[in-house]
Amino acid sequence: MPESIGFSGHPAQSAGATLATLRAAALECTRCPLAEGRTQVVFGSGRADADLMFIGEGPGANEDASGVPFVGRAGTLLTQLIEGIELTREDVYIANVVKCRPPNNRDPLPLEIAQCAPWLDRQLRLVAPKVVVTLGNFATKSLLETTDGITKLRGREFPFRRGGVDAILVPVLHPSAILRNGGKALADARADFVLIKHRASSLVP
Ligand code: URA
Repeated sequence: MPESIGFSGHPAQSAGATLATLRAAALECTRCPLAEGRTQVVFGSGRADADLMFIGEGPGANEDASGVPFVGRAGTLLTQLIEGIELTREDVYIANVVKCRPPNNRDPLPLEIAQCAPWLDRQLRLVAPKVVVTLGNFATKSLLETTDGITKLRGREFPFRRGGVDAILVPVLHPSAILRNGGKALADARADFVLIKHRASSLVP
């Protein structure tokens, strides 16, 4: 991994170029065994200087095939929730804790998370979001370094400092869980997205 990438400041106009350089390096990554089973590295997508950054667990089969995060049914729902607060996927940045698909969609292992963390740190530093939204139990526990579950944490805000970023973090239900549970889960997610929109607006000068 090129150590220089992402640690020399981030004027908004150069974030896109630097993120592209980081992405090119990540596409070659062999830092953990997930590299052997992947079709594509799923680096991240969206606006390089977004105020809102969504972070999921890791790519599934659709993402592994396309190289783009959240493109399956869960991705369609995420897109709808984003559009429900009058934004588009192009207005936000979307990434995952691990960039390569774990076999059979199992949870990423501690070694895989640790080896992938420098990529996420650099993404955070370059995008410099005001609000980080963790999608689901796994990403929330991983980023908040907590054992508390998503049901307890969702819709609340937490101070978040990582990768040189000073932001707030709001956990929400994973879109796959919303699809499984429907009804109240969807209503909760919609309410949480309204909170996210308000917090992002209040933090942007
Ligand atoms: N689930 C995730 O956590 N991330 C994706 O990119 C797709 C599904």
